Amino acid sequence: MCLLSIDEIFNKIVSSRSLIKDRAVLRADYVPDKLLFRNNEITAVAEVLSPLLKGYRASNLLLYGKPGTGKTAVARYVLKHLQRKANELNIKIALAYSNTKTANREYTMLVELGNSIGLKFPFTGLASSELFTRILNYINNYNLNTVFVLDEIDFLVKRYGDEILYQMTRSNERLENGSLGLVGISNDLNFKEFLDPRVLSSLSEEEVVFAPYSVNELKEILLERVELGFYKDTVNTSAINLCAAIAGSEHGDARRAVDLLRVAGEVAEREGAVKVEERHIRIAEKKIEQDKVTETLRRLPLHEKLVMYSILLADNGITGDVYSKYLELTKKLSIEPVTQRRIGMMISELDMQGLIYAPIINKGRHGRTKKITLAIQHSLLKQAIEEDPLTNGIL
Ligand SMILES: Nc1ncnc2c1ncn2[C@@H]1O[C@H](COP(=O)(O)OP(=O)(O)OP(=O)(O)O)[C@@H](O)[C@H]1O
Ligand SMILES: [Mg+2]
Repeated sequence: MCLLSIDEIFNKIVSSRSLIKDRAVLRADYVPDKLLFRNNEITAVAEVLSPLLKGYRASNLLLYGKPGTGKTAVARYVLKHLQRKANELNIKIALAYSNTKTANREYTMLVELGNSIGLKFPFTGLASSELFTRILNYINNYNLNTVFVLDEIDFLVKRYGDEILYQMTRSNERLENGSLGLVGISNDLNFKEFLDPRVLSSLSEEEVVFAPYSVNELKEILLERVELGFYKDTVNTSAINLCAAIAGSEHGDARRAVDLLRVAGEVAEREGAVKVEERHIRIAEKKIEQDKVTETLRRLPLHEKLVMYSILLADNGITGDVYSKYLELTKKLSIEPVTQRRIGMMISELDMQGLIYAPIINKGRHGRTKKITLAIQHSLLKQAIEEDPLTNGIL
């Protein structure tokens, strides 16, 4: 790639045609006014929550399905319209949404939920149980029929256990006035195993399953976004088809489709192209993949990073060689090495994350060993090592 002077860079940006009309609608958290192919799911969720409009409690509900199948979009869509209807009918209800993964802490989640229904907390650190008691008192005092949507609920359960969910599912017993209904959303069904059976049966009073989109459905969803997000005639039909095909190849994932479209649009704009074409989708696919790997590498703990680099350095990828390279690296950085057994466990974890290949091979009378190689581009690893002040000393 040739290097442009800063002046040339600015000139290029100023003179390049813009293709993207509205960036916001191309983001994954955008909820379109029209959700295609989800009428049944919207109806099912709306029916479960509609008793609120008559002053009754809503049943608990669990939404699940693969990533990018529209669970969050449908939940937010129904909440928005339910609130609108309640305002229209002058009925007081309280709806709150929290993504337990982005909230990250149980405490933050409860503050978010409380704030959304109009409750203010003092700044001092209250315990989660105290926060929840205050929320219930508030619901009780104002006689509010309430719904809490807990998105990516599997994260909450895996990280903090199901105590808070247990409290939530029992809250209608504690309330004299008002009610609390729960909507849990997850793309990982294994989390059910982490739940106490009583919590699970209460939470899944009702269930709605979201099926993956077909390639044709993805195409329609993309056409809709292109219309909203791009100027007229700036995206080739063949590019949209390819985008839908890629996003539909593992399971029909609308987020992947929309992400590819946005990144491809950005790539094409930067290039000064007049249209988004198939090759821009291909470049976007690679770029998204690389960004994901880079992010994963960046987040690896120190010793895992060193193990990755030791695998790159080791000649034949046998565990023993990897370990001796690792020892050299720790010596270079003057840090305490961990045991070979611990390194063996890290290797299995890195394998599960898809960062390395570590199949067990039979070595005849020498027994079984692993043949370890990197599953990612070496340059991405070198970059991650270089960027980290804790590891760049080994380069
Ligand atoms: N039926 C649809 N029509 C239009 N856009 C959709 C539709 N379904 C999903 N999308 C869009 O696809 C993206 C991903 O959808 P969403 O966030 O609802 O997926 P999800 O099922 O919650 O996935 P995850 O389990 O990974 O959180 C969003 O940008 C959303 O607006
Ligand atoms: Mg979601």
